[in-house]
Amino acid sequence: MRPRNTRIHSVFVFDAMTEMVAFAADRIAQIAGEATAGRGRFTAALSGGATPVELYTRLGSEGRLPWNVTHVFLVDERFVPVTDPQSNYRMIERTLLATAAVPAANVHPYVVSDSGPDRAARLYEQELLSFFGAATSAPPRFDLVLLGMGEDGHTASLFPGSPALEEKQRLVCAIPATQTRVARLTLTLPVINAGRNLFFFVAGDGKANAVKGVMEGDARLPASHVRADDGTLILLCDKQAAALVS
Ligand code: 6PG
Repeated sequence: MRPRNTRIHSVFVFDAMTEMVAFAADRIAQIAGEATAGRGRFTAALSGGATPVELYTRLGSEGRLPWNVTHVFLVDERFVPVTDPQSNYRMIERTLLATAAVPAANVHPYVVSDSGPDRAARLYEQELLSFFGAATSAPPRFDLVLLGMGEDGHTASLFPGSPALEEKQRLVCAIPATQTRVARLTLTLPVINAGRNLFFFVAGDGKANAVKGVMEGDARLPASHVRADDGTLILLCDKQAAALVS
């Protein structure tokens, strides 16, 4: 499928989640192998939500990745305790980390404490700078950034109309709570777009409008602002999510 959004390099549409998961797992294993061979480690920023659960479970159980040199960060987090069912870390812990032998020191959750979302965002920014090195002016470059997409076209915790979409300096932003959701923490577009390999991993007919809008470059949708500045952005979706794109 030829994406009209020139930021998306390739679109892969699958009949079933199992096929999408198998494809993604193969690609991620390849990326991890290249990263480890080239830089001695594999850095991944993973999103939460429900869509990647099967993928993370498979990655953990397959054991194809070099877990001892793999570093797991989170694209975003809800500002809730890690025991809360809404916690992205909790989901990743119960799917990927339950079977993947990633050393504890290689897992980088947000510090969700009572010091508040703003402090938590600053702490995660420090975590990124100390891990990737603060010396360079360029944002940290993840080998893999795995992104979902909301029905409203949000990605990470960057929601339509959010001031965080305009952030050019900060690496991590706190997103205030609203009536419908808890406060959140999120990587900003400069970090996301610096990634070497960006995946949109999207499924379900509820996402069809968002996928159509992103493919058409609708700037109102936060996911349309994702691009790989010096890497590759691909869209993996099932046929339901791709239903409105030719
Ligand atoms: C989160 C995610 C968010 C997610 C989309 C899609 O914290 O919820 O980071 O960006 O990827 O909302 O969520 P589903 O996969 O549950 O549809």
